[in-house]
Amino acid sequence: MEDKNQNLENVTKKSAILGLGPFILGLTIAAIFGWHAFPELMTKELKQPVAFNHVVHIEQAGMTCEDCHYLRQDGTFSGVPTTAACAECHSSPITENQEEIRFIAEYVDKGVEIKDKWLVYQKQPDNVFFSHAAHNFETCTQCHDYLYETPQDLCNACHLDVASTTTPPVYKENRLSGYSKNTMMMPTCEACHANPEHYDGITRATNACAVCHK
Ligand code: HEC
Ligand code: HEC
Ligand code: HEC
Ligand code: HEC
Ligand code: HEC
Ligand code: HEC
Repeated sequence: MEDKNQNLENVTKKSAILGLGPFILGLTIAAIFGWHAFPELMTKELKQPVAFNHVVHIEQAGMTCEDCHYLRQDGTFSGVPTTAACAECHSSPITENQEEIRFIAEYVDKGVEIKDKWLVYQKQPDNVFFSHAAHNFETCTQCHDYLYETPQDLCNACHLDVASTTTPPVYKENRLSGYSKNTMMMPTCEACHANPEHYDGITRATNACAVCHK
C-alpha cells in the first residue's frame, strides 16, 4: 500500500514537472512571437524606386535643399522631385553608377513620372492637414536660432535625417493601418503646439481639431 502511494506521488510530481516543460516552452514561443515576430509580421518593408543619394548631390553636385524642396509663392510645397527636375542633369548618364543608368532607362527615357512613386517616411493620412509654410525656417528661427542653425536642422525636428545618407533608409509600413513607421503621431504635433509661446505669441499654433483636420 505504502509503496503504491509513494509511486502515485512520484507519478504526480513527474507529470507536474513534465507539464511545466511545455508550458514554459509555450510561454517562450508566445513571448518571442509577441515581442519580435509579431511586430515584424505586421511590418512591410519597401524600397525607394531609385536609391537616391542625398550626400552626393549636396557635396559633389553642390546643390542646396531648396533646389529640390522649396516653398512656392502661394505657400504650397514642392515636396519630392519630378522626373523632369532630375532630368535637368540626368537626360543621359553622367556617371557609371548603375542606379543612375537604371533611373534614366526606366523613367527619363520612357517618360515615367517618379514623383508619385517616392515613398514618404513622414506621410500622413488624408484627413490630416499639414503645411510646410507654417513650419518654415524664417518663422521658427525668429526665436530659435539656437535650436536650428541650418534648414536641415529644422527638417530633422520632424523627419528622418535622410539628407545625411548615401542610401535611403528602408521604408516600414504597418500592414493593418498602412501607416509609415516613421510618421509623426498626433500627440507629438500637439505637444509642440501646446507651448504657450507658440499660440500666444507672434505665431498661431492652436490645438483646435480643425487646424489639422479639415
Ligand atoms: C537633387 C534633389 C534633392 C536635393 C538637393 C535634396 N533632396 Fe531631399 N529628397 C530628394 C528625393 C528624391 C527624396 C525622396 C526619396 C528619399 O527620401 O530618399 C527626398 C526626400 C527628403 C526627405 C524625406 C521626406 C520624407 O519624410 O520622406 C527629407 C527630410 C529631405 N529630402 C531633406 C533634404 C534636405 C535637408 C536637403 C538639403 C540638405 C535635401 N533634402 C536636398 C531629393 C533631394
Ligand atoms: C543639378 C544637377 C543634378 C540634379 C538636378 C540631379 N542630379 Fe543626380 N547627380 C548629379 C551629379 C553631378 C552626380 C554625380 C556626382 C559625382 O559622382 O560626382 C549625380 C549622381 C546621381 C546618381 C548616382 C549616385 C551615386 O551614388 O553616385 C543618381 C542615382 C542620381 N544622381 C539620381 C538623381 C535623381 C533621381 C535626381 C532627381 C531627384 C537627381 N539625380 C537630380 C547632378 C544632379
Ligand atoms: C515667438 C517666438 C517663437 C516662435 C516663432 C517659435 N517658438 Fe518654439 N518656443 C518658443 C519658446 C519661448 C519656447 C519655450 C522655451 C524653450 O523651451 O526653449 C519654445 C519651445 C519650443 C520647442 C521645445 C524646445 C526645447 O528646447 O525643448 C521646440 C521644439 C520648438 N519651440 C520648436 C519651434 C518650431 C519648429 C517653430 C516654428 C514652426 C517655433 N518653435 C516657433 C518660442 C517660439
Ligand atoms: C513640423 C514638422 C515638419 C518640419 C519642420 C518639416 N516637415 Fe516635411 N513633412 C512633415 C509632414 C507631417 C509631412 C507629411 C505631409 C503629408 O503627408 O500630408 C512632410 C512631408 C515632406 C515631404 C514629402 C512630400 C510631401 O509634401 O508630402 C518632403 C520632401 C519634406 N517634408 C521635406 C521637408 C524639408 C526639406 C524640411 C526642412 C526644410 C521639412 N520637410 C520640414 C513635417 C515637417
Ligand atoms: C516642433 C514644433 C511643431 C511640431 C512638431 C508641429 N508643429 Fe504645427 N506649428 C508649429 C508652430 C510654431 C506653428 C505656428 C506657425 C505660425 O503661426 O507662423 C504651427 C502651425 C501649424 C499649422 C497652421 C495653423 C494655422 O492656423 O495656420 C498647422 C495646420 C499645423 N501646424 C499642423 C501640424 C501637424 C499636423 C503636425 C504634426 C504632423 C505639426 N503641426 C507639428 C509648431 C509645430
Ligand atoms: C496639431 C495637429 C492635430 C490636432 C490639433 C488634432 N489632431 Fe487628430 N491627428 C493628427 C495627426 C497627425 C493624426 C494622424 C496620426 C495619428 O493617428 O496619430 C491624427 C489622427 C486623428 C484621428 C485618427 C486616429 C487614427 O488612429 O486613425 C482622430 C480620430 C483624431 N485625430 C481626432 C482629433 C480630434 C477630435 C482633435 C481635437 C480635439 C484632433 N484630432 C486634433 C493631428 C492633429
